[in-house]
Amino acid sequence: MIIAIVFLLLLLFPAATILMWRWKYPELRWDWQKIDTSKIHFPAGFLWGVATAAHQVEGGCDNNNWSEWETARDENGKPRIKNGQKAGLACDHWNRYREDIALMQKLGVKAYRFSVEWSKIEPQEGLFDLAALQHYRDVCDVLLAAGIKPVVTLHHFTHPIWFDRRGSFEREENIPFFVRFCEFVFHELHGKVHLWCTINEPEVYATQGYFRGEFPPGKKDPLLTGMVLKNLLEAHTQVYRALKKMPDGDQAQIGLVKNIFQLDPYHRWHWLDWALSRQLNHVFNDCILQFFKTGHFKFKISRMAEVRHFNPGAQRAMDFIGLNYYSHLHVKFLWNPPEFFALAHRPDEIMTDMIYPIYAEGLYRAIKTVASLSVPIYITENGIADAKDDRRDLFIRRYLYALSRAINDGYDVLGYFYWSLMDNFEWAEGYGMKFGLYEMNFQTQERKLRKGAEYFVKVVNLN
Ligand code: BGC
Repeated sequence: MIIAIVFLLLLLFPAATILMWRWKYPELRWDWQKIDTSKIHFPAGFLWGVATAAHQVEGGCDNNNWSEWETARDENGKPRIKNGQKAGLACDHWNRYREDIALMQKLGVKAYRFSVEWSKIEPQEGLFDLAALQHYRDVCDVLLAAGIKPVVTLHHFTHPIWFDRRGSFEREENIPFFVRFCEFVFHELHGKVHLWCTINEPEVYATQGYFRGEFPPGKKDPLLTGMVLKNLLEAHTQVYRALKKMPDGDQAQIGLVKNIFQLDPYHRWHWLDWALSRQLNHVFNDCILQFFKTGHFKFKISRMAEVRHFNPGAQRAMDFIGLNYYSHLHVKFLWNPPEFFALAHRPDEIMTDMIYPIYAEGLYRAIKTVASLSVPIYITENGIADAKDDRRDLFIRRYLYALSRAINDGYDVLGYFYWSLMDNFEWAEGYGMKFGLYEMNFQTQERKLRKGAEYFVKVVNLN
């Protein structure tokens, strides 16, 4: 009898959890055949922009963790970046920013999100390069004269080599170096910049660098992943509090940039697909949002790692949340030790050139997810890698439709930044991924507006 009851419970428990999960985490799907994507509306004053990051476009970033990584080799002697590529001169944006700002004006956008390169501003510990700082001041001035708001990111995956040598964000005691850098930049630029992003995608930085080993420092250590993530969130909180205390701090809008990438179960009836999907969502999305809602950070990977931290000051430590959204993937349980899962897409999905598909409904879901932080939202990145330029138009139509629908349903989204202004250095993928509204010829440094970008220009100029 007891055995029968235990057996029944063992069957009932997974079934009940699956039902609960299915109800709580629906995989939103719209019938695009029945949707008129031109039926969109954006409120007056909605901020349209484009985004880039220093290492990906500037050129001459040769003193940071990524420049080291690009020349390093993996355990098998292979280069770390696809085709052994290096960021190098990139788009030479450092010298060509005036030309690029003119390109933004042609698009009609009113904001530009870019990152300041810490390794150029503070090339050696405690030594600040005033000429580098003047450069960013000039960029802001040219933007303002063009009627474009500068939006600054303080950390977008790169930092100086000296900071790396000190153990970067692996060590909590290094956070004050980052706070000092941010205070310095804020002190110099606060009169020109109103919107500030502290850290770009802490979850991507931590998981790619410490769990998957695809970004520097190439480690595969679940516990360290949790520690680094905790330190990045703590760093954001400390920077937020520090800048708020500075002159004009109360005027500035300061936020964190969070990538939401849904990891949906491949089979919606499969307990193990579900359990893995919930675990990955916990690491990548939920534990971060939870920290800012409650002050409690709890990062847990079953039998592998657990990091706990409490800082009540994390609650409300942001004036807005920056949402970077690209797509989702499906998690499939595998019995193939040491691999226990694979990330897959469904056969009927339209792929981008990255490993993930076009999934505009996910933007709607992601907006709903970050809205739980109860602060205004900016879409700080959204775009498609599409070398053939045969899906960009569709991508933009669908994602802008999803965005407009979310706004119409009452979500407080204040702006949208397309990723990216032009093709650039796509980290571990090198130069193969073409995210640009403008196509780059890296030999001649010529920029050319893509056909697939025209719909974006049309919408921006209608609103
Ligand atoms: C990053 C960008 C990157 C983009 C496209 C985001 O995760 O912030 O730097 O280029 O995704 O992959």
